[in-house]
Amino acid sequence: MQIQLQLHINNNIHNLHVDPDRTLLSVLREELGVTGPKYGCGEGKCGACTVLMDGNPVQACSVTVGAAAGSRLTTVEGLAANGRLHPIQSAFLEIGALQCGYCTPGMLMSAAALLDAHPQPSLAEINHFMQDNVCRCGAYQRIVAAIQRAAAILQTGDAVNPVISTEVAVMRPFDTAEPVPTKNDEGIFVAYPCPDLVMARYGEDAEIPAPEERELQDIGPWVHIDGEGAITVCVGKAEVGQNIRTTLAQIVAEELRISADMVRVVLGDTGLTPFDMGTFGSRTTPVTGAQLWRVGATARELLLDLAAAAWSVARTTLQITGGVVSHPASGRSATFGDLARDRNLLRIAPDDAPITPPSAWTTAAGQPRAKVNGQAFVTGQHPYASDTALPAMYYGKVLRPPAYQAKLVSIDSSAAAAIAGVTVVQERHDEEDFVGVVGPDEFTASQALDAIRTRWQTPLQVSQPELFEYLKANPVEGEGRRGPYLAVEGSVEEGLAAAHFTLSQQYTVEYIAHAPLEPRAAVAQWQDGQLTVWTGTSRPFGVRTELALAFGLPETQIRVIVPDTGSGYGGKHTGQAAIEAARLAKAVGAPVKLVWTREEEFTWAYLRPAGIIEVTGGVDAEGRFTALQLLNTNSGAAGIETLYAIPNRHIAYQPADSPLPQGSYRSLAAPANHFARETFLDEIAHSLGIDPLEIRYRNLQDERMKAVLTAAADGFGWGKSTPAAHHGFGLAGGFDKNSYIATCAEVYVNPANGQVKVVRVVAAYDCGAIINPDTVRNQVEGALVQGLGGALFERITFANGRLLNANFGGYRVPRFGDIPTIEVVLLDRRDISPAGAGETPIVAIAPAIGNAIFQATGVRLRALPLAPHGVQR
Ligand code: FES
Repeated sequence: MQIQLQLHINNNIHNLHVDPDRTLLSVLREELGVTGPKYGCGEGKCGACTVLMDGNPVQACSVTVGAAAGSRLTTVEGLAANGRLHPIQSAFLEIGALQCGYCTPGMLMSAAALLDAHPQPSLAEINHFMQDNVCRCGAYQRIVAAIQRAAAILQTGDAVNPVISTEVAVMRPFDTAEPVPTKNDEGIFVAYPCPDLVMARYGEDAEIPAPEERELQDIGPWVHIDGEGAITVCVGKAEVGQNIRTTLAQIVAEELRISADMVRVVLGDTGLTPFDMGTFGSRTTPVTGAQLWRVGATARELLLDLAAAAWSVARTTLQITGGVVSHPASGRSATFGDLARDRNLLRIAPDDAPITPPSAWTTAAGQPRAKVNGQAFVTGQHPYASDTALPAMYYGKVLRPPAYQAKLVSIDSSAAAAIAGVTVVQERHDEEDFVGVVGPDEFTASQALDAIRTRWQTPLQVSQPELFEYLKANPVEGEGRRGPYLAVEGSVEEGLAAAHFTLSQQYTVEYIAHAPLEPRAAVAQWQDGQLTVWTGTSRPFGVRTELALAFGLPETQIRVIVPDTGSGYGGKHTGQAAIEAARLAKAVGAPVKLVWTREEEFTWAYLRPAGIIEVTGGVDAEGRFTALQLLNTNSGAAGIETLYAIPNRHIAYQPADSPLPQGSYRSLAAPANHFARETFLDEIAHSLGIDPLEIRYRNLQDERMKAVLTAAADGFGWGKSTPAAHHGFGLAGGFDKNSYIATCAEVYVNPANGQVKVVRVVAAYDCGAIINPDTVRNQVEGALVQGLGGALFERITFANGRLLNANFGGYRVPRFGDIPTIEVVLLDRRDISPAGAGETPIVAIAPAIGNAIFQATGVRLRALPLAPHGVQR
């Protein structure tokens, strides 16, 4: 039943005719377009939707609009006043207290309320007050620092609040007319011929046109300088919080000797950007970045050539800086726009383009640079896929089985279809039933879904207690790169026979969830046979292929647009939500938005694989490995190889039949393999009475690995003190994707209840030359926090095809109170090409914590999570 009511929002009055039982969140977002408050969980457990009600923080998903009527409501859009940001917004920008930014609006509102109640909050007050707000990217330490900074601003009246810019739209709004130049436009174009693109676009055997003859989209990453000097970079990657929009701008800016502010980066749109395999594997910096260095350098050289030719001077006599090429001897100068005007030039960047070595970076790279569109995030103006709204748009819901493998036996949707404005969609695809509903708003669509009566048949399935036994008993061949994997060197038998000390242990890891704060979401629109989908994914072109297969369409008739997304951590590679939204939109002939619930996100996405890792090893009297045998069942081969110098090795990965859907995760299986190996080595060290750092030195020849261990140990003060009672120190190191991490941890284990508190973490990281130290530091901090969750308490529980904790109430993720003091030491190796930084820092935190728990308690924990209910003695 709908009634008339009035909402006071951000000093505006809105008269509405709505069902008073709808949540405040749905009315704000769907009826009023106030999309700053985000959907995160729908149960008041994540804080993404926090707004102020008469000055008090409330979670808008848990308040009905009827209850909110008459109260004074403030959302993030109303936090700034008089054209200036609120101090907490300024502080978030200044500190860089965000990654994907999806939690940011809710964080800001809770923090604003905290500062209102406690203008100078203590750390304990911050942790207590903010405990309901989740930052899945793990930017907690920065958020705390931002709150403290805002408190200082409030106390001193520092005038640091920038005036709100009207130009926050680095992300385009929901139109499909992004003004990206085409090949025939005026200006200078430089593109790099991407081999991945050639393979995907033309295949192996086809006759491939010369790059110059192709459309821009069919060449590779490109830059354009127009007649006004505007610089656009176009890349098919997706921004999911790792800050590549900023890093890629810095790369091109460095080569052009300009500020990164002058570079606009267009990402993740299959209708505009060149093909890209996907944003995974930490490939953006070493692969796409390497291409953009060449693009930028070629563009710079072209600008110099044009100026030299125009002025008939030697190009070596020219200078280039700040978007201007000048000839000091004659006093002549020309802007980039002057040089690009009235031309139409396309150059293909060669592999030997004169890129600037890291040792010579001076302009934009190698220095901290704030998120280029940060202001849009702290003002609630950044539109995520789940914020997309189109005219005459409907809202969809999909009927899910009660368990994996359940088959629909019967369905009665008459009651749902009878609801005004609702359409029930029932189809069969690939021998599977697809049932969904479409309604005028999410509340109605949910009611309709609930009204469908069904019967299902569910086969008996493996439950958690039998998991590891089942995985061992059910090996599979795997596909492609998924294994099996085997590396053998020397003879393990002989190495063990020659050992002074041998050990065999088994380690296990449970399934864990990515739980990105923005669940999967998609808006689909069909127009004249063309399908356009806005969705959050790290594989825009992969999702386009999935859509093409699902609908039997050529890819040219499909456009996938990926707004900067509310994180993924390897969990948003697939396009289920996009396909579902497109099916519903096609069925009703109108645009449809589909946002997965938190429970759907947990259940119907995919999980980090569970696994068993069996390790046998031998060492000599000094602790040097004589042999190592490691068998990983199911969790994966990433990080399975070791940097330790071991003459006799047998390293194997055996895929298994997973009872739960599993897939990529941040750093894949490297955290699991490092957990097993680094714990195993710690066990040997303690057995032989050798210092854990020393035993690593003795087994390492890799200088970069030794260097990060030394840096972390020095920063931590390893060996300089003994832990206090019930405290322990642990360390671990790791390598993945050409970068190195060493992590030291201090834990406190409460003797009364076994609860573990990680007190302090020091991590040293080497990812080669660092383009943006602040971004890398932020990524390391986030990876450590996410790794801490997986180390201590994150795990999926399940029985007979059903997840038992598919929500933030049951699935514990790190929160403010869990966060240790984190110190990050960056080894900026200007002599080594940059590597990606988003994944590797996660690999060593779990063994470091486990090893510290052992020192604190004498209890050796060999299963991840280590202590979901505390350490049991
Ligand atoms: Fe907090 Fe991504 S920045 S969830």
